[in-house]
Amino acid sequence: MADERNYKIAVIPGDGTGPEVIREGVKVLQAAAGRFGFNLDLNYFDWGGDRYLRTGETIPEGGIDELKKHDAIYLGAIGHPDVKPGILEKDILLRIRFELDQYVNLRPVKLYPGVWTPIKDKGPEDIDFVVVRENTEGLYAGGGCFLRKGTPQEVAIQESVNTRYGVERCIRFAFEYCRKRNKKKKVTLVGKTNVLTYAWNLWERTFYEVAKEYPDIEVDYAHVDATCMWFVKNPEWFDVIVTDNMFGDIITDLGAMIQGGMGIAAGGNINPQGVSMFEPIGGSAPKYTGKNVINPLAAICAGMMMLEHLGEEEAARAIEKAVIKVCRDHLKSMSAGKMGYSTSEVGDLVAKYTEEGVDL
Ligand code: IPM
Ligand code: MN
Repeated sequence: MADERNYKIAVIPGDGTGPEVIREGVKVLQAAAGRFGFNLDLNYFDWGGDRYLRTGETIPEGGIDELKKHDAIYLGAIGHPDVKPGILEKDILLRIRFELDQYVNLRPVKLYPGVWTPIKDKGPEDIDFVVVRENTEGLYAGGGCFLRKGTPQEVAIQESVNTRYGVERCIRFAFEYCRKRNKKKKVTLVGKTNVLTYAWNLWERTFYEVAKEYPDIEVDYAHVDATCMWFVKNPEWFDVIVTDNMFGDIITDLGAMIQGGMGIAAGGNINPQGVSMFEPIGGSAPKYTGKNVINPLAAICAGMMMLEHLGEEEAARAIEKAVIKVCRDHLKSMSAGKMGYSTSEVGDLVAKYTEEGVDL
C-alpha cells in the first residue's frame, strides 16, 4: 500500500481519444494534489490497440500483477478501428475488471447545472442517481457454446451466470452506498423477474433479504424495460439502482444521455478490498482522435471519483465544483467539437478552478 497520502496510480491512456482526455484528467488531478497536499505517483502503461498491432500482445505477461501494486487505475479508452471488435475489450478491459474482482461498476447519472438534457422539463434536481452494475458475472462471464456451427441448424448458447455470492455482495454494496450517499435513501432493483425467472428470482430473494438489514432505506423494484421509460419520464424517482452486468451496461448508456452525453459520463470499477479502476464511459471515439476537440470532462469526473475512492473527499468536491463552473459558465455544449473550447482548454479551465477554488 501507499504511504499516507502518496498514491500509486496505474495510468492506461489506451486507444483513440483516451490519451487526450487522460492528459487533461491528470492535469486536474495534479492541480488537486497541489492544493490539497497529497502526492500522485503515476505509472503509465501503453496497453491498447497500437501495442497489440505492433506486438500481438494485449496485456503483457505479469501485467495484471503489476496493476495489483497500485492504489488505483486510471483508464482512458479501449477500442481500435483496426482491431476486430471484442479482442481488446475482452482481453484488456473485461480481463482487468474480472481478474481484479472489481465487482461493482458504479455509474453516477447526475445532471450538472447548465448542462443540456434531452429530457424536457427536467433539471439537476430531477436527474441525480447512481447505477450499481454487477461487474463480474451475468452474460459477461462468457459461458456458452455453438452447436453445429456454420450449418443451417446452428445453435448458439450464451449463458448468464448469477451466483448468490456475487449477487449478494453487489446488492450489499448498493445499500451501503445508498446509506452513505444519504439522499432519497432508496434502492431500486432493476431486473426482469417476469421472464428471466431463474436469475432474477435469485436477485429478488437476495435483494429483499439484504434489505431487511437496512430498515432506514426504502426499496423498490422495476423491470428493465420499464426502467428505460422511467429514465425519460420520471428520472427523479431514482436514487440508487442495482442491476446485473448486461442490464447495467444498457441502462447506463441511456443514463449518460440524460445527464448530458458521453462527454461527461464517468464510472468506477470497484473492488472495495482491492484495486479499483476509473474510466470515462464513452469509447475511444476514433473519428475525433488527435483533433483536440473531444470533451475531457468524463475523464476528469472519473479522476474525481478516483480521489473520492482514495479518501481525498475534499479534493474530489473541489474538482466537482470546478466542473460545475466550467459547465455552467463556459461550455456551449458537451459534444465533441461543439464545446466552444478545445480539449486542452477545458482541462486548463477545470485545473485552474480546482486550484483556485470556486464559489458557486
Ligand atoms: C462499458 C462498455 C464495455 C462493456 C465494453 C467496451 C466491453 O460498453 O464499459 O459499458 O460492455 O462493459
Ligand atoms: Mn457500455
